[in-house]
Amino acid sequence: MNITTMYCGSDHAGLGLKHLCIRHLHNQGWTCTDLGTTSEASCDYPVFAAEVCRTVQTKGQLGLLICGTGLGMSMTANRFSSIRAALCTNEYMARMARMHNNANILCLGARVVGDDVALAILDVFVRTGFEQGRHQKRVELIDSVAGQG
Ligand code: RB5
Repeated sequence: MNITTMYCGSDHAGLGLKHLCIRHLHNQGWTCTDLGTTSEASCDYPVFAAEVCRTVQTKGQLGLLICGTGLGMSMTANRFSSIRAALCTNEYMARMARMHNNANILCLGARVVGDDVALAILDVFVRTGFEQGRHQKRVELIDSVAGQG
């Protein structure tokens, strides 16, 4: 499957950075679908995390979730089976999240990373592929061990 689409969600704290990321990805030819929130009114991040996770579960492709710290988004997203959400604060984490963990959702904290760092993290995330090999079994184990918990 060709990865060409990013499903994006944020709460109010992540709204501005989400718009910046969407513009940035559009300029590189990505299709972006904004699943909310759409205003700066205070809202609940799990609602938008769930929207993005359900869409990524159904369609494949990648997701982007942004809140103030990225923590609430990543905590919520990682409750969904087959979702591997990576909260990244630097490019190395983004690279490893794709290469070793086959992360399918990038979480960012708009109050943690500056805009330039956020875009650099995003670029690495979308340009890096899964290494497979020994990492395939480990990634499969994430869902199977969690099912036993
Ligand atoms: C909103 O104030 C803030 O709590 C939220 O954006 C996020 O950081 C939660 O994890």
